[in-house]
Amino acid sequence: MAGKVRVGVVGIGFMGKMHFGVYKANPKSQVVAIADVDAKKLSGDWSAIAGNIGDGSAKSVDLAGIRKYRDAMDLINDPEVDLVDITLPTYLHARYTLAALAAGKHVISEKPICDNLADAKKVVAAAKKARGRFMVAHCIRFWPEYAWTKEHVVEKGEFGKVLSASFRRLSGTPIWSWTNWLMDAKKSGAAAVDLHIHDVDYVRYLFGDPKAVWAQGAVNAVSKGGGVDHIVAQYRYPGVGQVTAEGGWAMAPGFGFEMSFILVCEKATVVYNCTKTPAFAVHLRNGKTLTPKVAAGDGYSLELDYFLDCIQKKRNPKVVTGTEALKSLALALAEVRSLKAGGKQVRA
Ligand SMILES: NC(=O)c1ccc[n+]([C@@H]2O[C@H](COP(=O)([O-])OP(=O)(O)OC[C@H]3O[C@@H](n4cnc5c(N)ncnc54)[C@H](O)[C@@H]3O)[C@@H](O)[C@H]2O)c1
Repeated sequence: MAGKVRVGVVGIGFMGKMHFGVYKANPKSQVVAIADVDAKKLSGDWSAIAGNIGDGSAKSVDLAGIRKYRDAMDLINDPEVDLVDITLPTYLHARYTLAALAAGKHVISEKPICDNLADAKKVVAAAKKARGRFMVAHCIRFWPEYAWTKEHVVEKGEFGKVLSASFRRLSGTPIWSWTNWLMDAKKSGAAAVDLHIHDVDYVRYLFGDPKAVWAQGAVNAVSKGGGVDHIVAQYRYPGVGQVTAEGGWAMAPGFGFEMSFILVCEKATVVYNCTKTPAFAVHLRNGKTLTPKVAAGDGYSLELDYFLDCIQKKRNPKVVTGTEALKSLALALAEVRSLKAGGKQVRA
């Protein structure tokens, strides 16, 4: 494709606003349309948007020259839109992703691919046949420190074998979403499927599919509908001593947000913690500490830049495929099954 990719963003909430800002700053793209059911958002009043990380951007936005739709289907059928970006609540992902693929658009959907495996399979099958390209925004695969760790620690094995890997993602309770859909487990999948899936997907990105998984945690702690609000999952991988991921959004407000990991390797301990400065360090066995140089930007800017590049160069995305996103959802759901069965080991 010659020229800028013309983007339509569907759902101007925490993530829609984030993606909108990224596209505006990227010379490969131009936002030509937005869709939201909320008239205030379409008027450029974005003051009600909130999330677990601040982006410091303006509360009111100049939307001159951008087409505004109340009905997402009108954006999907807009012939001037090349790429439909689905930043809708999770329970709406499959419906609009399928519609946009059927309309011949390129589609990026926020994670998780959707809220259930039957629909996820439909999305993957539709994406395989579609004219447009498809990616799920599993941003952690692109997050600079996580991408560096995949390449240098796991693929190149620069610090010897991985003996232990643990991942954490903890947040204050997200009571800020549109109509509070995040607190309804039937719509969001609660913390296990919404928040923790970032690490579930990254664990799979590093080590592949585990032989088995088991999990414990807390159900219905802050959300309603039988959802898992805090989870600690343990994965069995031949050749890696232990792999654990903890995720939860039942933290008291003062806690804020933490994403972090520790990889204990034969020759070094690799530590990332977004609440620390510096956030990333490789502590060598000889007592020295390295601060790796990682890519500039964050997971959001890098993932969208990658997908825009795939569209312009007519290549299918390899970093995240639909099948990969489906398998990550399947693993998160397997963890929920294990937890609800009292921590029983299950096959992923
Ligand atoms: N990658 C990440 O780090 C990350 C972070 C947060 C959320 N997410 C994901 O992004 C998605 C959106 O989450 P959010 O926090 O931005 O939600 P949000 O509640 O902040 O925003 C949702 C928006 O969708 C709009 N909307 C609802 N129904 C609509 C419809 N039928 N048509 C058009 N607009 C509609 C709402 O008005 C609202 O503006 C979720 O799938 C979530 O899991 C990803």
